[in-house]
Amino acid sequence: MAQRADGAATCRICAGAVEEFVDFGRQPVSDSFVTPERAGSEYYFRLAAGVCTACSMVQLTEEVPRTEMFHDDYPYRSSGSEVMRRHFTAVAESFLAGPLRKADPFVLEIGSNDGIMLRTVKDAGVRHLGVDPSIGAAKIAAEQGIRVSTEFFEEDTARRIAKDEGPADVVFSANTFSHIAYIDSIFRGIDALLAEDGVFVFEDRYLGDIVRRTLFDQIYDEHYYIFGVTSVRNMARHFGFELVDAEHLDVHGGSMRYTVMRPGRRPASERVAAALAEERTLGLEDPAVYRRFAATARTACADLRALLERLKAEGRTVAGYGATAKSSTVLNYAGIGPDLLPAVHDSTDAKQGRLTPGTHIPVRSPEEFRSAYPDYAVLFAWNHAAEIFAKEQGFRDAGGRWILYVPGVHIR
Ligand code: SAM
Ligand code: TMP
Ligand code: ZN
Repeated sequence: MAQRADGAATCRICAGAVEEFVDFGRQPVSDSFVTPERAGSEYYFRLAAGVCTACSMVQLTEEVPRTEMFHDDYPYRSSGSEVMRRHFTAVAESFLAGPLRKADPFVLEIGSNDGIMLRTVKDAGVRHLGVDPSIGAAKIAAEQGIRVSTEFFEEDTARRIAKDEGPADVVFSANTFSHIAYIDSIFRGIDALLAEDGVFVFEDRYLGDIVRRTLFDQIYDEHYYIFGVTSVRNMARHFGFELVDAEHLDVHGGSMRYTVMRPGRRPASERVAAALAEERTLGLEDPAVYRRFAATARTACADLRALLERLKAEGRTVAGYGATAKSSTVLNYAGIGPDLLPAVHDSTDAKQGRLTPGTHIPVRSPEEFRSAYPDYAVLFAWNHAAEIFAKEQGFRDAGGRWILYVPGVHIR
């Protein structure tokens, strides 16, 4: 944790003062789905977030060591969602038709996971490399013939790759760049690797959506930064780059795709100016806006717990759906364990048979959900609601009801 002499946190980017606005207390690593034998061995930290009063970057005030989060047993698999598979196929196709349409192009992806994006690049026969330290996920990519290097991307890695491969025309990163506290090292790496006219494109959950809709469970260990257009523009400048485009995306409950280049290559698009103006209207630089956000988050957690207690007292059955990293924040903060929620169902092989981090709720398959529907299901993967509602129409047909807790607790 970066600390100033007066004890306040300092910004990991500009060293400005960070004003803390929410504290979810002691929390385990959000993706540490443990085997029953290892229950209790989770790494804990204080999950709190603040906003930099100088550059407006929203960030955690405590950093979890990266090897506690990303390792051979990291269970997240990007390809579990059909919507996300289609999304990343389209991303790859846009690169192939755009910046990669040249002689011997090269694309590097930071956080390639199971190869969800690079699969399409590989099929097109284009030179590529994925970098991802999570060996279990990277293996799935490698088995499909995708080139992967299982390590953390940082300055040294980038210098070595630049030497071996030459400059990258595209550096892409989705839902990963925000996970990397040591972002200064990444920017130095991008500087060493990116072609003179290359693009660095990254997409991540968008601060504007998170604040507007109080998507508080997007705050967890892996999301060290929560990017907004204002803070990303400031960050890019701070590290000698320029934000040239910001495109809003519907995925993961609202995301933004940022395009960063070396300075003077391209003027910033209209979309950047429009997003900056909108962020001013939303008050994304105003600590009072974040304090209201925190109060709404606390109410949602208390309401969810109260609802589950009431349903239990009435003899209703309830299960969770989607053993997401996000759910760790809610479950641990609200103190919801197997007494209130006997199971969480999830399609990921690597999570089934494990227990949820800290709260130790068994993770079971969607088939088990279908074999004995509960009366209610809490949707923790609310960002995949349309896909899951369609897949689980049978639950609704059998009289089941979904419980959601963002922006507040409601039943659908
Ligand atoms: N890009 C995929 C997507 O959007 O679905 C995966 C996102 S997943 C939440 C984050 C991934 O980033 C993990 O697979 C993790 O191992 C990887 N990661 C974390 N730190 C990294 C780093 N410094 N370099 C490369 N990959 C990293
Ligand atoms: P995410 O919100 O971080 O992408 O995680 C989504 C989780 O939900 C992941 O563990 C997979 C799970 N999931 C299902 O169980 N069924 C589904 O249909 C989808 C789309 C996701
Ligand atoms: Zn700052």
